[in-house]
Amino acid sequence: MKKYLLLLFISISFFCKGFAEEGMWLPQLLQSLNEKEMKRMGMKINASDIYNIGKGSLKDAIVSFGGFCTAEVISDKGLLLTNHHCGFDQIQNHSSIQNNYIRDGFWAYNTGQELKNPGLFATFIIRIDDVTKAVLNGVSSSLPEKERQSLIDKNMTAVRSAAKKEAYQDILIRSFFEGNKYFLFITETYRDIRLVGAPPSSVGNFGKDTDNWMWPRHTGDFSMFRIYADKNNKPAAYSADNVPYKPKRALNISLDGVKEGDFTMVFGFPGRTMEYLHSSAIAQTVNVSDPAKIAIRTKALQVIDGFMRSNEEIKIQYAAKYANISNAWKKWQGEILGLTKTNAVAKRKELEASFEKIVLSKPELNMAYMGILQNLEKAYNAIEPYAYARDYYSEIFSKIEILGFANQLKSLVNAYSNNGETGYNTTQPKVIERLGELYGEYNADVDKKLFEVLMEMYVADQKDEYVSPYFKNLLKQNDHNYAKTAAVVFERSKIYNKENLLALLTGNAKDVVDAIKNDPAYQLTLDMQQTFNNTVAEKLNSIQAEINQLQRKYMQAQMDVFTKKSFYPDANSTLRVTYGNVKPYQPRDGVKYEFQSYMDGVMQKYVPGDYEFDLPKKLINLYNKKDFGRWGVNGRQPVCFIAANHTTGGNSGSPALDAYGNLVGLNFDRVWEGTMSDINYDPSICRNIMVDIRYVMFIVDKYAEAKNLIAEMKFVSRKKK
Ligand code: ARG
Ligand code: GLU
Repeated sequence: MKKYLLLLFISISFFCKGFAEEGMWLPQLLQSLNEKEMKRMGMKINASDIYNIGKGSLKDAIVSFGGFCTAEVISDKGLLLTNHHCGFDQIQNHSSIQNNYIRDGFWAYNTGQELKNPGLFATFIIRIDDVTKAVLNGVSSSLPEKERQSLIDKNMTAVRSAAKKEAYQDILIRSFFEGNKYFLFITETYRDIRLVGAPPSSVGNFGKDTDNWMWPRHTGDFSMFRIYADKNNKPAAYSADNVPYKPKRALNISLDGVKEGDFTMVFGFPGRTMEYLHSSAIAQTVNVSDPAKIAIRTKALQVIDGFMRSNEEIKIQYAAKYANISNAWKKWQGEILGLTKTNAVAKRKELEASFEKIVLSKPELNMAYMGILQNLEKAYNAIEPYAYARDYYSEIFSKIEILGFANQLKSLVNAYSNNGETGYNTTQPKVIERLGELYGEYNADVDKKLFEVLMEMYVADQKDEYVSPYFKNLLKQNDHNYAKTAAVVFERSKIYNKENLLALLTGNAKDVVDAIKNDPAYQLTLDMQQTFNNTVAEKLNSIQAEINQLQRKYMQAQMDVFTKKSFYPDANSTLRVTYGNVKPYQPRDGVKYEFQSYMDGVMQKYVPGDYEFDLPKKLINLYNKKDFGRWGVNGRQPVCFIAANHTTGGNSGSPALDAYGNLVGLNFDRVWEGTMSDINYDPSICRNIMVDIRYVMFIVDKYAEAKNLIAEMKFVSRKKK
């Protein structure tokens, strides 16, 4: 009887553990690793419908958008869907006082109105091949790191030249599992990508920083572009003669929405995760590196916010910068919270204990991996002070912009010392252009205050030997007063506005270079860089190299030890599939979040005239009349939903597909409590956030009345009418 009960208990706990929603899987391996489980979770199509190199499959509708986001093809005329925040640069570039597309949105009502975007590209993945054997040919574990890398480089060159591809295609080889595997990608990159549509920011970025990384969410974070090709449908530089691209595959759009428990998958280009770290590395993130970066950004954001609130011009100039600084700042706070709450360090230690036990039980594992955990721990402890110094240096250096300006001037000084007047003359206009762009979104008063506040942290929170002697001296000359020191640097330096810069850069090359070398901001920049290089960088890099080598070995070790587990490689900006079910979550005791949000919530958050929560009149009217067209259900308009898909930065703009491979949502964020999924995915609180595709269509159809776009898309429904 007892035995049966035990068996029953084991099988119940096995099933209660549920499905492995964790993982960013390689599309070409779904069939062997994931298909069975995906079907058990509700998928109705086959792995070969997702990835197939013989015929069109879902992968042929997915592109890397500009290398930093994902987008998907949603019509036979190459229409692309991505996030508003992914297309924001382009929307901003086309905006002016007269045509304020950021504020008012933009819609092309025919292809002639679509706007070109130099530099923007969309990359398809044609084929993925395992080239591990060829790349690691001759590489033995005893080879010193440097020789190992040069042998790998040599092998990769050979693999590249042997690979079959068309002239218009490219080859990419990337390392996976921390250098234990290599895959080759044949890609096609289209470079004539035009802006088709974007909602006003009050829809596309509704809730801004307050709602960022939060659920419940009410943002219509989408924009639309179109791929153009030459007459043969091949990639081509922008030309007025180019025509809309005819895709191998376009996604169908589902009208059915999602229910709790429904299968979903997200297909895209996740950027970077670190799921296989040693517990001491996780502890370091929680206790040292996240808190340091958060502290610096908290100060910086306070300064910028203060100016933005009292000055309309600064508010516009600093909007994007503020959003950028605050995005990671907020994410790190969620990361600490989640890692702490889910006991990530303790759980990782448990995993290490069972790893150790198995290693000790088998002689061959013992031989290969004995002591690896201890070595990792030692290395992470050794790197801690240097990693902290690096975070401090790079966070502060990048927030005080005058130091960045001086760094630009360094390229001019270097050009002169390397190539004399010729070098100077070719570099000088580039520097003026680059700095000219930066001055457009810059205010010296804000920067001076940032200098004052952040340089105090630079001195106060770091070991004295890591601090620039030049700055310490400057500070001493100014009574150890940071405000006074900042004032002096800005007064004497010439480089915080365009007139001063032009004055500084006028005259013969030698005099200009001498004048630059006398600029206090320039001198400070050089000394900060040198101090960092001498006291931190060298040590940091050598320990980091050791850690990389150990992590590579530890990755292989985990695969050799936990033989029953399927492993997925950390994200590295390559194409991945992640899948999970639509699910509510419970972030803390007594609070449970539903999986779906509606327009009622948009209206509840509405604050007329507010910087974050204002709404367009027309949208409010549509809501008041309940004029949702075929996009609403039972008199309500769905807006966003969440599911347990394992996503990260770079998955922005990725399609969320249902069990049949139809488009139901557009990925754009994660919930705050779950941002630690980059280090430790936990199914209890990790959720990705998607715009419901019916909200996207409602905005295109009812708000923008872009019937031309609705007409080119294909809609499907499995519901009986
Ligand atoms: N948190 C999302 C991401 O990491 C959205 C960022 C854009 N939105 C914003 N309010 N800053 O990219
Ligand atoms: N917003 C993120 C991006 O731009 C996606 C959210 C996340 O990090 O999961 O990629």
